[in-house]
Amino acid sequence: MASLMAGAAKYDLYSHDFRRATYETYARMRERDPVHLQPGLDGETPIWFVTRYDDVVALLTDNERFVLDPALALTPDELRRREDESPLPLDERVSTHLLTQDGEDHRRLRRLVTKAFTPRMIEGLRPRIEEIADELLDAVAPHGSMDLVDDFAFPLPITVIAELLGIPVEDRDRFRVWSNTFVLPPLTDELREQFSRHTNEFVAYLDDLFRERRARPTDDLVSALVQAEEQGDHLSENELYSMAVLLIVAGHETTVSLITNAVHALLTHPDQLAALRSDRSLVPPAVDELLRFDSPVERTITRWAADDVELGGERIARGDLVIAVIGSANRDESRFLDAGTLDVTREDVRHVGFGRGPHYCLGAPLAKLETEIALTKLLDRLPGLRLAIAEDDLYWRPVPIFRSLASLPVAWDA
Ligand code: HEM
Repeated sequence: MASLMAGAAKYDLYSHDFRRATYETYARMRERDPVHLQPGLDGETPIWFVTRYDDVVALLTDNERFVLDPALALTPDELRRREDESPLPLDERVSTHLLTQDGEDHRRLRRLVTKAFTPRMIEGLRPRIEEIADELLDAVAPHGSMDLVDDFAFPLPITVIAELLGIPVEDRDRFRVWSNTFVLPPLTDELREQFSRHTNEFVAYLDDLFRERRARPTDDLVSALVQAEEQGDHLSENELYSMAVLLIVAGHETTVSLITNAVHALLTHPDQLAALRSDRSLVPPAVDELLRFDSPVERTITRWAADDVELGGERIARGDLVIAVIGSANRDESRFLDAGTLDVTREDVRHVGFGRGPHYCLGAPLAKLETEIALTKLLDRLPGLRLAIAEDDLYWRPVPIFRSLASLPVAWDA
């Protein structure tokens, strides 16, 4: 294990300044230290950061040697020590989900929800997503300005995922608060207290919802999951809570950022925006290029090495922690020609923005459809759309795994 090798961090990967120089930092890492060990966010725990495209693909597709469950990588003693040292004990009610499980447990959980997210099922949501986008724009169009995040990019995906799951949309602001807590690393006592409080609130909320759906099942995903739990051998109670939490959090956090980052990228690349304006059929493939160019999930969940592994010329030891830096891999010049250039007509955009391998994003077809509709509606309905904030005033949220703007003021000719 690498625990004795923790030195000072060579690369700033967390500060506000890093946010202004993200892609320059990653370019240096790809060139000089493509598989690099340095302390993570807590300033202590050593983590390998993997920044080249090929290495990221190798890491994400090798789920035998890079695992999510530490019990598969650590000895019982190491595991106990880790649990003792951990600032916040894992709450299994909300952490027994797809992104913490490997092997057969992961496959079983994934099978339960795969059917709801196939491209065909998702395409069936198109008219409703268009309607939601129109309603949101009806409310702001006459004003000539809005905060893209609060008024459009957040309410769109949270409404879609709430309807899909069968959760009251009126409660969306509560999900936003809980979600925000779940994506922040609990580094201070205050954040740890908030994490426990919000977990309890979220679970109590879900308890009521599950009770209601048990009594009166409807045609939604929560009813289907509750029935799977009742059948006993498919889904435990903790897995049921955790699945709902994961789908709510993963189902909107990331899409908010994709829509926002995509609009930001287009408004700062007028030639690319003009190309989409003149040919709407470019929008669906452009979503992938926009996702490659400014990836909302910038770094994956941390994996554990279950064995000693050679990667990118480095020897990663069993028990080490490893992160795939998606935002860097998607800008790797050895994979993408002129990787730093946004080109909405680019061919072969095989990015890793949705991950790769067994944990490939379940919601990819949904996220792509939502973003395609969002961009098309914004182009159709808000003439002269432009940024209403200086580049220097943009504030990137301090959430280490996401690249996500706190707000994006925009204006148009009302
Ligand atoms: C732009 C939007 C999105 C992006 C960029 C994104 C990105 C990702 C990435 C990178 C992973 C893999 C994480 C890892 O391997 O560590 C992932 C997994 C996942 N995503 Fe998404 N996601 C998005 C939208 C969604 C939506 C709308 C849902 C809705 C249900 C969703 C549900 C999931 C789930 C359940 C997993 C875990 C899959 C598994 O472990 O088998 N995501 N996503």
